[in-house]
Amino acid sequence: MKSIVIYNSQTGFTKKYAEWIAEAAACECVEFKQAAKLNLADYDAIVFGSWCMAGNIVKLAWFKKQMPALAAAGKKLIVYAVGGSPKENPDVAVAMRRVFTDEDRKIVKVFYCPGGFNYEKMNGASKLMMKMFTKVLASKKDATEDEKKMAEMISHSYDISDKKYADAIAAELK
Ligand SMILES: Cc1cc2nc3c(=O)[nH]c(=O)nc-3n(C[C@H](O)[C@H](O)[C@H](O)COP(=O)(O)O)c2cc1C
Repeated sequence: MKSIVIYNSQTGFTKKYAEWIAEAAACECVEFKQAAKLNLADYDAIVFGSWCMAGNIVKLAWFKKQMPALAAAGKKLIVYAVGGSPKENPDVAVAMRRVFTDEDRKIVKVFYCPGGFNYEKMNGASKLMMKMFTKVLASKKDATEDEKKMAEMISHSYDISDKKYADAIAAELK
C-alpha cells in the first residue's frame, strides 16, 4: 500500500507522530504547507494529522473538503489529532464525536494521540490564548478536581507523547 502522511504542527508533537508513523509504515511524510504540490491520486492511503485547538483540529477543513472524492476513488483515509489532553480525558471523546459525524466515520478512521505542551516553541497568539485560558481556569471558584488538575498541568511544558499511538496508526497502513 502506498501511503503518505500530511501533518500540520506548531510546536513539534504532530510532526513527531508523523515521523513515527512514516518510519513504522515505511512511507513518506510531508508538511501541510507542501500538500498543495502533491497528487493525492498517487496514493492508496492518506493520513492527515494536526493539533487540537479549543476542541477543534487545525486545518481539518482542508482535509474534510477532499474526503468524499478521495473515498469515492477508493482511498483509505485516516485522521490523527494531537492534543495536550491525556487520551482518558472525557473531553477528548466529546470533541472527537463533535468534529467527526457518523457519516464522516464511514469514510475516515479517526485517532487521538496525546502530545503535550511546548511553550518555548509556541507562537505569540497561542501563548496569549493559553494565558487567558489558564487565568479563567484558575479563577473558577467551583472548579472540578479534573479542571484543577488540568490547570496545574498546562501551567508549564510537558510531553506525554508515546510511539505506541503511532504504531496503531501504522498498523492500518500495512
Ligand atoms: C490556543 C491553544 C488551544 C488548545 N486547545 C486544546 C484543546 O482543546 N484540546 C487539547 O487536547 N489540546 C489543546 N491544545 C494543546 C495542543 O493541541 C498541544 O500542545 C499539541 O500537542 C500541539 O501540537 P503541535 O506540537 O504539533 O503543534 C491547545 C493549545 C493551544 C496553544
